[in-house]
Amino acid sequence: MKKKDSGRKYSGLLSCLMILFLAAAVFAGCGSFQGVVPESGVSDGMPDEENSLIVVGFSQLGSESVWRTANSESIQGALTRENGFFLEFNNARQKQENQIKAIRGFISQRVDYIMFSPVTESGWDTVLREARDAGIPVILVDRKASLEDDSLYTAWVGSDMISEGEKAGVWLEEYLIKEGREEEEINIVVLQGTVGSSAQLERTKGFHNISKEHSNWHILKQEPADFTTAKGKEVMEMFLHNYKDIDVVISQNDDMTFGALQAMEEEGITTGVDGDVILISFDAVHEALELVSQGVINVDIECNPEQGEYILEIIRKLENNESVDKENVVEEKVFTQENVDRYLDTRTY
Ligand code: AHR
Repeated sequence: MKKKDSGRKYSGLLSCLMILFLAAAVFAGCGSFQGVVPESGVSDGMPDEENSLIVVGFSQLGSESVWRTANSESIQGALTRENGFFLEFNNARQKQENQIKAIRGFISQRVDYIMFSPVTESGWDTVLREARDAGIPVILVDRKASLEDDSLYTAWVGSDMISEGEKAGVWLEEYLIKEGREEEEINIVVLQGTVGSSAQLERTKGFHNISKEHSNWHILKQEPADFTTAKGKEVMEMFLHNYKDIDVVISQNDDMTFGALQAMEEEGITTGVDGDVILISFDAVHEALELVSQGVINVDIECNPEQGEYILEIIRKLENNESVDKENVVEEKVFTQENVDRYLDTRTY
């Protein structure tokens, strides 16, 4: 932040008082006066080591899921003071208007980098143009933004969510063959994530890429449940009320799966390997992987929240004027009862 030139506004009296105050401070031996304000946006009067920190403003979209908490912790664990960063973390509580406000705040603070995880895909062009006009590089995290001009962001780190949806479809294809049910009429309901988010749009699209090849797969209903346990339970209750013959439940994250399981348990419906209903989930957080191990969830398609190290590397490269990849896809697996026990002990979230 640059200091404003306000000298002419002072009256003669005020100037005298200032001189007296400074002289008194020097005589008292406590006159540590730091007049230089760095361009970087670190606030006035900080020691040099503070001024050398890279200032990053991060608008996280919310704290709706176990996954989201792990994602925030990964980023906070990477952009630390020890690594040379000052991270200004803002929780937007699922509201795009809060994210836009936070981004404008980062611009006016002249941070070195802006990062945000877009709650929904559209509506970012104006504020990102403002960031570009201010010369601040933008890094998208986790979800994507649909922009008129891709040069409005420098890099994106996240998951290939179309591929995640396709993995769910391919797993179901193979499972039905293994069970000798590939010719059966299969009724499917889908608990979707936040409407308009890339996680919801792309997982839906990916699964559709596979389901469209199977005329005997019937998607009875796709309904948003906001990626939360409470809403997952509510929507599952509605599905159970409206549809008496459900073969497959697809839940676009583990938190909604936990809610859906509560609703099914209350109705005496069992799920998983030996259950009434095939259950497909996304994220692969520890609690869900335990349910995979117990055979309650058939398959969990991983969405990897540990993106902090990827971001750290990107910013370091940018600081060294090195080029960076525009799209940075994190590594992800598929967990079933066959392989999950190998990973349970090391899963920290
Ligand atoms: O964008 C990633 C998704 O958002 C995760 O699947 C979900 O748990 C989170 O809320």
